[in-house]
Amino acid sequence: MKGKLVIVMVGLPARGKSTMARKLRQTLELDGVKTSIFNNGDLRRKMGDETTSSSTFFSPDNSDAVALREKISSLNIEDAQKFLKEKGSVAILDASNVTRKRRKILRNTFLELPILFIECMNADGEALEANLERKATLSEFKDRTKEEAIASFVRRISYYESIYEPLDVEPNRILVDSFENCILQEQVSSIVPYYDRIRDILTTRVVRNIFLVRHTQTYFNLEDRIGGDSDLTEKGIEQSRALAEHFTTQRIPIIFTSNYQRTLQAAEPIAERQDRCSIIALPEFNEIHGGVCDGMTYQEISDNMPHVARARRLNKYRYVYPEGEGYKTMEERVYRGLKKVFYLNNYGENIMIMGHKAVNRVILSKFLSRQEEEIPYIYMPQNRYYHIQIDPYKRIFELVPYSLS
Ligand code: F6P
Repeated sequence: MKGKLVIVMVGLPARGKSTMARKLRQTLELDGVKTSIFNNGDLRRKMGDETTSSSTFFSPDNSDAVALREKISSLNIEDAQKFLKEKGSVAILDASNVTRKRRKILRNTFLELPILFIECMNADGEALEANLERKATLSEFKDRTKEEAIASFVRRISYYESIYEPLDVEPNRILVDSFENCILQEQVSSIVPYYDRIRDILTTRVVRNIFLVRHTQTYFNLEDRIGGDSDLTEKGIEQSRALAEHFTTQRIPIIFTSNYQRTLQAAEPIAERQDRCSIIALPEFNEIHGGVCDGMTYQEISDNMPHVARARRLNKYRYVYPEGEGYKTMEERVYRGLKKVFYLNNYGENIMIMGHKAVNRVILSKFLSRQEEEIPYIYMPQNRYYHIQIDPYKRIFELVPYSLS
């Protein structure tokens, strides 16, 4: 069967396998390669039995559950075989596939086809923790508290860890860091169709829609004060409602905010108007820290600390507030926040970031090629948002109004 390929995803739960699988399918489909995903978890959830989401269902000692999981796996294998026999070109088997035994069954089943194993890992504990929080919001945990859901998922992971065997004997294999978005190891010993394309897809960030929004008006904004943790004004609340109304035509599954009240308060009305939308606060998106100037107005800084105002004017990008931050020193953490966003967001779904003036400038500069001295002056209004769309061949940026004032 020419041009046919089986991709087997491998990895512990919550390591970004399904996101990677969706990214592969969507991009290969755009290239005209008929691709389909066969996901064991989806099939399990479709079977609808409540017990299949409890952690004991994943215990290697639970022989009934092991048999059921093997059955689910073979049903998906059969569907993949059918798909490849008919019009399909690439079948992606999306499951943990963490044992050599399971992978051997797959190799023996698809003896006549090239098979590529893609293992997703992530060594970043914080990103993993954030991913567990997100998993806790899934409908399969709807009858549990967030804490119960996380504890159950952690137990599920530990069952998988107890039987996990890394890729080693599989002839064609790639190890991907799904948080850092890079390839850690690869070994290809036979011809794998679309290999160069797949490699490229695995390491390219493709963004269908990012809505980069600045929080709406706060009391500090009214007084021209920097930093702090001010609340929204009445007008700010109105603007957030206008945003919520504006986005009712878009599906927003997650809103990423900072830890500050103003971003959380601006996100809440939007989340309320959506069908199942969670708010994830990332400290990486906290506004630039003004250090000793935090809470002062620009005028107060000019009057009382003219050396600060002068030095900042001279090189706003590189300037660091005493005991605080600067655009340059903030870059690394903001980029880290962005990596978390890509890791936590399901591939292909809209991304909303409710951020701050300086943070949003740094985020935007990651996508726009701007000179560093221009970054601290990028226009960041409170009645418009940036809509960013990126694929390997084009980038679109649009400043969209949502409120009259
Ligand atoms: O004024 C609002 C604010 O978000 C402050 O908290 C922050 O210090 C400032 O904007 C960043 O903008 P600039 O770098 O232009 O002072």
